[in-house]
Amino acid sequence: MATAHQPPSTAPHHTAAGAADTAALESAFDAAVAADERIEPRDWMPDAYRSTLVRQMAQHAHSEIIGMQPEANWITRAPSLRRKAILMAKVQDEAGHGLYLYSAAETLGASRDDLLDKLHSGRQKYSSIFNYPTLTWADVGAIGWLVDGAAITNQVPLCRCSYGPYARAMVRVCKEESFHQRQGYELLLALSRGTPAQHAMAQDAVDRWWWPSLMMFGPPDAESSHSEQSMTWKIKRHSNDELRQRFVDICVPQAESLGLTLPDPDLRWNEERGHHDFGAIDWTEFWSVLKGNGPCNEQRITQRRRAHEEGAWVREAAAAYATKNSERKEATA
Ligand SMILES: [Fe+2]
Ligand SMILES: [Fe+2]
Repeated sequence: MATAHQPPSTAPHHTAAGAADTAALESAFDAAVAADERIEPRDWMPDAYRSTLVRQMAQHAHSEIIGMQPEANWITRAPSLRRKAILMAKVQDEAGHGLYLYSAAETLGASRDDLLDKLHSGRQKYSSIFNYPTLTWADVGAIGWLVDGAAITNQVPLCRCSYGPYARAMVRVCKEESFHQRQGYELLLALSRGTPAQHAMAQDAVDRWWWPSLMMFGPPDAESSHSEQSMTWKIKRHSNDELRQRFVDICVPQAESLGLTLPDPDLRWNEERGHHDFGAIDWTEFWSVLKGNGPCNEQRITQRRRAHEEGAWVREAAAAYATKNSERKEATA
């Protein structure tokens, strides 16, 4: 957001400023968003915009770090050194994505400790997709192809999100996600062209991950509570249903070249619409997993809490090192 049309950024935005000032700030904000300018951390913004972004970025960050678990489950059992190295790099990338996003949330005044506390106590959510188990090695491929693929479809438009730090974090995240998606595709292709047992394993993984991946785009537009406001604020650029359709259209030809089928008898090209029609999604399953009744909800959060506790000494050591360093700098200054 250009600085020309805003007062000093330190002005308290909901206390001293009078109603007229607030209205002026608000219309400057609206104009900046309408003109596709970026809102930066020190710009004035409505409280609801700030809290929506903090909630969304936190939920996104939580998903990145919880998402490390289902795949990390396979690192020690990867079938070759090459596959193990690739999977380790991928899981490590997801930790990095979490860090970019927690940092982006901090630019709006959120505290990382507080966000993690909310994750650990169940007050903030992460993507429900990670509450499904990874039963075979082929799941690593299906997650890369479908789950990371759905994430890219969701996140590419976020590179143009009105909030600068979030948009910029997404540019880097999307580049890494496309590597994740390709490694999944390549892994599934190898299995699909392998022995009949390997082909069957790949097909079974796709059968289990297809529908949960479609649910990743969130409830249908008619039932999506935050969508409209987020679209006006240009945090969100496309509706859940639009993105889901885009994802289905991308996946159908890819499944064909993989030599695998998608588990939906109603899936067919609709010439008139220029899109694929697809079957009804089981939203009762979605809501049930979201409420905590998925196969792995408890396991994921227990493991996350334990990892946090076991990492306490690392945080303490890092803080002690930072203090020592700044003291040293002060002494030599
Ligand atoms: Fe990621
Ligand atoms: Fe990823």
